[in-house]
Amino acid sequence: MRNTILAILITATVACGVLVYFLPHVGNIILLSITGILTIVALFDAFQDKHSLLRSFPLIARLRWLFEDEREKIQQYFIEDNLNGTPINREKRSIVYQRAKLQKDTVPFGTQHNVYAKGYEFVKHSLFPTDHHKVTGERVLIGSDKCSQKYDASIINISAMSFGSLSKNAIKALNQGAKMANFAHNTGEGGISPYHLQGGDLIFQVGTGYFGAGKHDINGKRLFDDEAFRKNAIRPEVKMIEIKFSQGAKPGHGGILPAKKNTEEIAGIRGVVPFTQVDSPPGHSAFSNFDEMIVFLQKVRDLSGGKPIGVKFCVGNNEEIEEMIKSFSEANNYPDFISVDGGEGGTGSAPLEFSNYVGTPLLDGLSFVDKTLKKYKLRNEIKIIASGKAIDAFDIVKYFALGADAIGMARSFMLSLGCIQARECNLDTCPVGVATQDDDLVKALVVGDKNVRVKNYHEKTILATKELVAAMGKNSIADVKATEVFRRSVDNGKIETLEEVYS
Ligand SMILES: Cc1cc2nc3c(=O)[nH]c(=O)nc-3n(C[C@H](O)[C@H](O)[C@H](O)COP(=O)(O)O)c2cc1C
Ligand code: SF4
Repeated sequence: MRNTILAILITATVACGVLVYFLPHVGNIILLSITGILTIVALFDAFQDKHSLLRSFPLIARLRWLFEDEREKIQQYFIEDNLNGTPINREKRSIVYQRAKLQKDTVPFGTQHNVYAKGYEFVKHSLFPTDHHKVTGERVLIGSDKCSQKYDASIINISAMSFGSLSKNAIKALNQGAKMANFAHNTGEGGISPYHLQGGDLIFQVGTGYFGAGKHDINGKRLFDDEAFRKNAIRPEVKMIEIKFSQGAKPGHGGILPAKKNTEEIAGIRGVVPFTQVDSPPGHSAFSNFDEMIVFLQKVRDLSGGKPIGVKFCVGNNEEIEEMIKSFSEANNYPDFISVDGGEGGTGSAPLEFSNYVGTPLLDGLSFVDKTLKKYKLRNEIKIIASGKAIDAFDIVKYFALGADAIGMARSFMLSLGCIQARECNLDTCPVGVATQDDDLVKALVVGDKNVRVKNYHEKTILATKELVAAMGKNSIADVKATEVFRRSVDNGKIETLEEVYS
């Protein structure tokens, strides 16, 4: 094949050369240039020693790379249907775009879902629906008896995503949107940047790298620092503190900020060296067992002036989680909220194995935490914030049924900012300016337009949730139970409740 390709190209170049010699007009000269360049590239491909495919199929093998590079786009634009795109299918992406842009969000002609397929989920409506205008439960008071500055939270808030992972314009638009619709914006583990301070309520996240809450020891290791933490925690914008153990996309790994995205500004905020990859450690250095953890949680609560303190994790070892909750009960001291993230959660950057194979999926983890808190009689004190692909009202109702008191959403808010699921968040090439630090690309995201979309998406999703709950005949979103959400069994195709599935 290699010799044939080279022979064809060389012959074509010679033929064009002869043509130019006898008929030297512009068209022939261009033809000669093209064949000449292609022949040089093919000769280079045939004799380089890095890529076997190119040596066998000079020039032609380059097409394969081109198609491979563009695979995701070809898949999204030409192949995927409404229900099979991943991680978030077209139907779900569209509902976010429509609600964010206040476009028509109804569908014609009937469902595209196979309602007889195993795993199909639904709720049952009542013959006596309530008036959705009167449905309550869109806000929840977070703060146990240990906390003196309880927070009246929306049930939908922006889940943790740092400045670094997201662009400054994305962070600004999220925060301004949160302000407009009165909900909270989680800073992510990268600390508080000026772009977070646009007037929206903040959940200040402290991860294992202690960015915005730490210092370096003499060996360069990041340690928690009381004063650095206190300065940020007492800001009036900060309404709650979240201590991050893990996130579902990479539990047990720690955050990753790719070198390209670690600009001078971001490095300054985090206190690290610019343009190096920043890996947060997998675990905390401020405590090493549950007793020490409880002391630490009380310390940060005190340093913050009594604000609600939470812990975020993806459920790993069930016995360990039960041990933790038992320790809370025995110490009679506990966090004010637990954020349960599902293994299906998103990330800016994660190792493949961690993303695909580590951590309990949300529904299993959520129902386990809910049941364990009930077992140790802490359910009234500790609120649960659930995150993991919550996009539309049905997701919210389902998560509430399994114990959530509030929902954290990350990727759906990215979609509301214009994310097209190009899945290049770890490359710094995000084409819509959401997950990049490249100044030219960041400009694509117009804050004054996208902040309103963030607000719209929040408001319309709350409204859709109220409508769904009203159809179920309920007066409050908080009243939905696991006995009221149904699934066609994956074993025998019969209908079962989520209570039965997750008993
Ligand atoms: C771009 C991006 C950055 C994230 N950064 C953080 C982070 O700093 N800290 C954290 O706890 N979780 C982080 N997450 C996880 C989200 O907060 C959330 O738990 C997870 O994506 C599940 O929510 P979702 O399915 O609505 O995206 C990040 C997710 C994304 C997509
Ligand atoms: S458009 Fe692509 S790169 Fe940008 S945020 Fe969305 S998934 Fe990430």
